[in-house]
Amino acid sequence: MKMNVNEMLNWRYAVKKYSSRKVANEDVQAITAAINLSASSAGMQPYRLIVVENTDVKARLGEGSFNQQIATASHLLVFAAFENITQEIIDEYMQRTASIRQIPVEAMADFRKSLEAHMLNKTPQDNFTWAARQAYIGLGTGLIAAAERQIDATPMEGFDAAHFDEVLGLKEKGLKSVVIMSIGYRDAENDMFARMKKVRLPLDEFVAEIV
Ligand SMILES: Cc1cc2nc3c(=O)[nH]c(=O)nc-3n(C[C@H](O)[C@H](O)[C@H](O)COP(=O)(O)O)c2cc1C
Repeated sequence: MKMNVNEMLNWRYAVKKYSSRKVANEDVQAITAAINLSASSAGMQPYRLIVVENTDVKARLGEGSFNQQIATASHLLVFAAFENITQEIIDEYMQRTASIRQIPVEAMADFRKSLEAHMLNKTPQDNFTWAARQAYIGLGTGLIAAAERQIDATPMEGFDAAHFDEVLGLKEKGLKSVVIMSIGYRDAENDMFARMKKVRLPLDEFVAEIV
């Protein structure tokens, strides 16, 4: 039976124990394509996604972590944000937009100026914080896209970002890992969280309506 989006969100939970069943390539691609379609501020997509399937690499990434899911899930998606926003990144974005929309790059002079004024005067730390926020929007999309296919997932901040950056060679690419998401299939019998009720606020406490 096809679930609506709220049913999907109720079906999903942050899995602690995965079975050994692998996620098919077609499903991994559908999830990554959905993440790529996420909204981002100014459309800049200032983050990249690294998909780790390799068992040894997952084991290395999971070393010393309380999150067993890193090593045991079928695939691990690492959201890595740009450590700074540079002229080169803005130029590349302008070129890509001009090429896809088939317009001269000069037609975006005002847009370029406002991006440059906004980003090139900020500290790298501020730009990284902004980029990381965009990555979290991608994470939200990824969780929904996985649930839509009844693929389980775990969003995680409990990992050693410096270790991940080292193992995945992210520094050389100007990236820093910010959040990760494992995907796979739940081991429902051995994961006590599979049976637990969701803890959420009553809607009237969560939402304030101004009418
Ligand atoms: C940004 C973020 C980081 C999280 N980090 C972890 C983590 O490191 N380990 C873990 O098992 N769950 C982690 N979670 C899962 C949350 O604990 C879980 O989403 C929350 O308790 C709500 O439960 P539910 O997602 O199962 O409905 C994280 C969730 C988010 C959104």
